Amino acid sequence: MKIKKAVFPVAGLGTRFLPATKAMAKEMLPVVDKPIIQYAVEEAFEAGIEHIVFVTGRGKKALEDHFDRSFSLEHSLRDKGKMESLKQIEELVPPTGTIIYTRQNEPLGLGHAIWCARDIVGDEPFAVLLADDLIQTQAPVLSEMVQKFDRLRASIAAVMEIDMDQTDKYGILDATTLEDDIVKINDMVEKPNPKDAPSNLAIIGRYILTPRIFDFLGRKKKGAGGEIQLTDAMKTLLKEQPIFGYKFEGKRFDCGDKAGFQMANLAFALQRPDMKDKLLHFIRTIEKEY
Ligand code: G1P
Repeated sequence: MKIKKAVFPVAGLGTRFLPATKAMAKEMLPVVDKPIIQYAVEEAFEAGIEHIVFVTGRGKKALEDHFDRSFSLEHSLRDKGKMESLKQIEELVPPTGTIIYTRQNEPLGLGHAIWCARDIVGDEPFAVLLADDLIQTQAPVLSEMVQKFDRLRASIAAVMEIDMDQTDKYGILDATTLEDDIVKINDMVEKPNPKDAPSNLAIIGRYILTPRIFDFLGRKKKGAGGEIQLTDAMKTLLKEQPIFGYKFEGKRFDCGDKAGFQMANLAFALQRPDMKDKLLHFIRTIEKEY
C-alpha cells in the first residue's frame, strides 16, 4: 500500500527560541535561506507523498502563507526580472488541494497532535515528520523508509545512536539488529533517565505508521512530562504488530535546540558553493579567539 499522506505536527509554541518566536512560528526560522519546515516538506514530496497534513495551532499563519502563492510578490519579482527568485517561490508551492490543515486546540503532546489528523489520514499507513529533526543525507530518509516499508509491511521509525547522557530527550529502544540498517523493536520508552534506558538507540523524527496507532492514541493516556506520547502508543502497537527501526546514514541536527539550530545553519551553508570558502575562512579565523 502506497504511503500517500504525511503528518507534520507544527502546533508547538517554540518557547526555546523566544523572543524570536514571539510573533513567528518556530518552523519558519530559516536554515540558511529556507524555513525549517520547507526542508521536511520537500523530503516528503520527494518520497512520493501526495498530501501534507499540517497539525497547526494559533500563530501559524506565516506557515500557511509560505506554502501559498503570493501574487503581489510574484508580480513584483517578474517586473524586476528576478526570474531565479520567482522560480524558487513558485516551485515551493504545492499543487492546490494537496495541503490540509487541522488544528490541535490543546497542547497535550506529540501523540495527541498526531491523533488530531486521524480523520484526514483515514485507514491507511502514513508518514510523520518532525521538522525539528533536520537530516543531511545523500538519500533522503523518508524515501528510504518508504522503500523499507514496501518490503517490511510494518511500521518503521528512523533511529540513531545518541550519547547515553541524552536519553531523557528521546524515545529510547530495546531492539534487535536484523540487517545492517534495520532493527526490530522489542520495547520502547519515552525520555528515560540514562540509568533506566534500555540502550542508547533513539527514535528520530521520521515515522511510517499503520493506522492502528490512532486507536491507541485515542486512549489519551498521559506519559512522560504529563503529555500524550507517540512512543507510548507505539509501545502498545508493538503487542499486535512488529515495528522496525531504520538506522539512517547522515548528519542529524536538532533544530529545536539553539546550538543544534546554529550547527544546522553552518552545515547547510557549507554545502553552498557561494558561501563555503567565506565561511571556512571565518571559522578558521574566529576559532583562535575562543
Ligand atoms: C519527540 C518524540 C521522541 C523522539 C524525538 C525525536 O520528542 O517524543 O520519542 O525521540 O521527538 O526528535 P520531542 O523532541 O518532541 O520532545
